[in-house]
Amino acid sequence: MAQLPKGQVAPTDGLLPEQAKLDADKRTFHAYIHVPFCRVRCGYCDFNTYTAQEIGSSSQSTFARDLGSEISFSKTVLENSGIPKREVSTVFFGGGTPTLLPAEDLVGMLENLREAFGIAKEAEITTEANPDSVDEEYFQKLKDAGFTRVSIGMQSAVPHVLKVLERTHNPENVAKAVLAAKKFGLQTSVDLIYGTPTETLEDWIQSLQNAISYDTDHISAYSLIVEPGTKLARQIKIGEVAMPDEDLHAEMYEVAEELLTKAGFSNYEVSNWSKSVESRSKHNIAYWQSMDWWGYGPGAHSHVGGVRWWNVKNPAAYTDRLIGNSSPALERELVDEENRDIERVMLEARLSDGMSLDWLKEKGFATAEAISSLLAEGLIDGPKAFAGKLTLTLKGRLLADYVVRKLLG
Ligand SMILES: C[S@@+](CC[C@H](N)C(=O)[O-])C[C@H]1O[C@@H](n2cnc3c(N)ncnc32)[C@H](O)[C@@H]1O
Ligand code: SF4
Repeated sequence: MAQLPKGQVAPTDGLLPEQAKLDADKRTFHAYIHVPFCRVRCGYCDFNTYTAQEIGSSSQSTFARDLGSEISFSKTVLENSGIPKREVSTVFFGGGTPTLLPAEDLVGMLENLREAFGIAKEAEITTEANPDSVDEEYFQKLKDAGFTRVSIGMQSAVPHVLKVLERTHNPENVAKAVLAAKKFGLQTSVDLIYGTPTETLEDWIQSLQNAISYDTDHISAYSLIVEPGTKLARQIKIGEVAMPDEDLHAEMYEVAEELLTKAGFSNYEVSNWSKSVESRSKHNIAYWQSMDWWGYGPGAHSHVGGVRWWNVKNPAAYTDRLIGNSSPALERELVDEENRDIERVMLEARLSDGMSLDWLKEKGFATAEAISSLLAEGLIDGPKAFAGKLTLTLKGRLLADYVVRKLLG
């Protein structure tokens, strides 16, 4: 499982240092709720998640209660640290598999947030959903409680690809889940993965065509990352599964752009496409713009005004800390202005809205030499650069990390 980054030990009272307060009224506040349970673990995944076999089902049944304690704790911490009260602008239930919990538990946690902070009128409230663990009744309950959006883990439409990924859902259930969500007026998104070993270009086109046929508002497509320590990484190491082919990844990305654009989607971040500006993920945009968010749950990460912290990963340790009225945070780090600027370049350069070239130059990034070389390589858009915006071309999106390295010098 992925290691947490190294930071300073977080204080047990959770209190935030002075810098968190600075300009807080200019930033919006968001909530991420991490539900760390899955029915089975997919071989490629290193997220902080556990099966009932690994931890027993007891922490699953008390999870909403414990999370409610962290919400009360966060209210006290933010107030005592002098952060002005702000309503929650977006809520995202992720995992793990949030929909393994009864709908009442998700609704209860949302209500806890509402009581503690208030939820903004036009708030985007999303849950990730596994196609096997939802039905109409489930979505009806979410909609009635104020949820606005579901993000469904489709990954692929092709059985042999799903098998390599060790995804257990029936691919036909994705269409059913999208239809059920739409019936109650929920916005829908599906997640796809490309570049799985054994996946051909034709397989990928099939998955894209299926996803497009569901008529969702939003599609995310991520290239498969072989995370160290996962079962997939071991299978590749011993030659049981072939290595993903990097050149094929690029071709798959280009096909995704072509088919999704033809189907009426626009790319707004390297891995994300939406039907309209309104259906972009407001929650993810808040991350990319370094707004403030509290990440609730085991292993969740938070950020308030350049202060980042992350919770203990183990669900039992998480519960013990909250019962002892102690912060569930394990460690934290204070990000200084220079590093915040670097992070801003890393995140914002990936957005189709682009970055201000004046800001980049003012901060000492993007030398004239770097810009002309990126233009010559066809990685950034010429006319937009002329108008003062740094925006990636399609080729630039494929090499986004390289572009960022060049900008940072
Ligand atoms: C961690 S999952 C949580 C939601 C839900 N459990 C699911 O699988 O759809 C969120 C997304 O991350 C993707 N993901 C997890 N590990 C990945 C990896 N190694 N490479 C690319 N995508 C990954 C999943 O496929 C999924 O679409
Ligand atoms: S269902 Fe999602 S969170 Fe759970 S193991 Fe699979 S990819 Fe990871």
